[in-house]
Amino acid sequence: MRLFVGIPLADTVARELGKGIARLREGESTRPGSRLRWTAPDSWHITLQFLGNATPEQLECLKVRLGEVRAAAFPVQLGELGCFDRAGVFFADVIVTPPLAALERSVVAATGPCGFAAEIRPFHPHITLARAKGQGRGTDLRALKSKIQSQPAFTRFTATEFVLYESHLGVGGARYEARMRVALTGGHGPMTAANH
Ligand code: 2AM
Repeated sequence: MRLFVGIPLADTVARELGKGIARLREGESTRPGSRLRWTAPDSWHITLQFLGNATPEQLECLKVRLGEVRAAAFPVQLGELGCFDRAGVFFADVIVTPPLAALERSVVAATGPCGFAAEIRPFHPHITLARAKGQGRGTDLRALKSKIQSQPAFTRFTATEFVLYESHLGVGGARYEARMRVALTGGHGPMTAANH
């Protein structure tokens, strides 16, 4: 199974984001040759750590270790729309705050003993809105960027949980199933049982 850990987007902000990109989506769907693939709003999330393939034993280990992560709920603010040009990803940025960065570190520390390594790339939290594939992807992303006239404004939301997701790949895009939810109810910011 293919796993990752993330924070689901609050419904209110998902609606704002849906409205914020509606015009861009419409424009793209009528542009000849566009091969952008849009993600489903109900799948929008902020990835904390992509784990990749996992065995059933690793899943059990993750449930124990992630269940030990203690963190308080914290505010999350979306930023600007942008692109990872090389990866062909159109995204909404998420502002890196100390509690978000600390939770990412706690999650990475918790998954290590289950056999997962930290990303080498720096943590750049985001919500993937569309993916451009194939040779024309640079053109697709440039066309999209040129249509962003003003950046949408987003309401801050409170992250009250993080989720261990299983990703099911399919022809219509990935479908994500929550395998475990961990409530952010700790009182003193993110930390794991190991670093108390
Ligand atoms: P992305 O949205 O920027 O593609 C599930 O695939 C989640 O894990 C996505 O949010 C995806 O980020 C993230 N992810 C990070 N590294 C990945 C990788 N090597 N393969 C697939 N997804 C990855």
